[in-house]
Amino acid sequence: MSSKVHPYSIEQLLEAAKEARSRAYIPYSGFAVGAIAIDAQDRLHYGCNVENAAYGPTNCAERTALFRAIADGCEAGEFKAVAVIAETEHPITPCGVCRQVLAELCQPDMPVILGNMAGDFRMTTVSELLPGAFTSRELNK
Ligand code: THU
Repeated sequence: MSSKVHPYSIEQLLEAAKEARSRAYIPYSGFAVGAIAIDAQDRLHYGCNVENAAYGPTNCAERTALFRAIADGCEAGEFKAVAVIAETEHPITPCGVCRQVLAELCQPDMPVILGNMAGDFRMTTVSELLPGAFTSRELNK
């Protein structure tokens, strides 16, 4: 897999995800996560986790980035890549709900860049993160 998501380097994307992470609203876990979604026009959509006293309504950084992008007019399937970063020993691994949302809004072969604050990263894809995803195909839509 290429180490660039045209026109951005992986380092630039993780840097942007770090900036998104700095905006995290995390009064309960103290665990800040940042994410970036790149759209077809190479615009970057920023997402951070936004927590809630009732815990359940918490929104992860990945979903915030993708939902913001959709609300800003992006179409499902047009994203070029998503990058995610957190302070973890190994590159962050997205939760199951975010994997399902990635499978809904992104192409199966879209690159997903997972990083940590120490500078480690790994490249994966939507279908690697959620093989056999339940999608609109199952609903015949
Ligand atoms: N979180 C994310 O934002 N993304 C992930 O990939 C994993 C978990 C958030 C949710 C919650 O605010 C905090 O991290 C602890 O689970």
